[in-house]
Amino acid sequence: MLLEDEKEEEALKPTRLGQSGKPRGRLGRALGWFMLRVNGPINARTVRALEMQPGETVLEIGCGPGDAVARLVREAQARRIFAVDHSPDMVDAAKALNRTAIREGTVDIRECSVSKMPFRDGTFDAIVAINSIQFWPHLRLDLKEVMRVMKPGGRFVAAMRMTMEYRARRRVEVIARALPNAGFVGIGLEEVDARAFRMALIEGKRPIWSGGGPYDAFTR
Ligand SMILES: C[S@@+](CC[C@H](N)C(=O)[O-])C[C@H]1O[C@@H](n2cnc3c(N)ncnc32)[C@H](O)[C@@H]1O
Repeated sequence: MLLEDEKEEEALKPTRLGQSGKPRGRLGRALGWFMLRVNGPINARTVRALEMQPGETVLEIGCGPGDAVARLVREAQARRIFAVDHSPDMVDAAKALNRTAIREGTVDIRECSVSKMPFRDGTFDAIVAINSIQFWPHLRLDLKEVMRVMKPGGRFVAAMRMTMEYRARRRVEVIARALPNAGFVGIGLEEVDARAFRMALIEGKRPIWSGGGPYDAFTR
């Protein structure tokens, strides 16, 4: 039988990537098409939770085919919207969906992992990850990378669909408990319904006093 600490470590391990965690090839592109059709309610609910203010700069991590980016373009009055994904096929799909906003200079989508993002410290007012945090390879370090690129006072929202609810609930609780270790404050965890889907929203903020403070000493 596993002890509580071992269960916690187990729940911190990333979900096996498979096609959902890194869509690739023809099957991956078909999955991206499917995600565009089914994940709308979850993306809409998560974008609402971000409480975007006009003129802010936002980042989506694990953007998949780019539906949440398109929603941010339509709804958020953001100054700039960045997105990253480690799947080249998903980056291509998200770029195709958002080509007008990219041409106009509002949207910028790049291929990279959450573990090492090509952004300066303190760039983003808000960061969102929808159905992607469960795949991150080194949750604790990756959360520090998220914290690094956030402005002091910036907001982070991670959403997860609650399929196989018992395991998913343990997973989101463990993720929420990992946030303070990466320096986040104001942690929130709630389960909500988005049409037919049950989902969890995990939220945290970068402390406004963190510029030059202990949270700048990141281990990379
Ligand atoms: C299940 S899909 C969700 C896509 C989209 N957010 C949605 O909900 O429709 C997960 C996405 O996260 C991306 N992803 C997983 N791990 C990642 C990592 N370490 N860095 C960047 N992207 C990652 C995958 O490539 C995939 O596109």
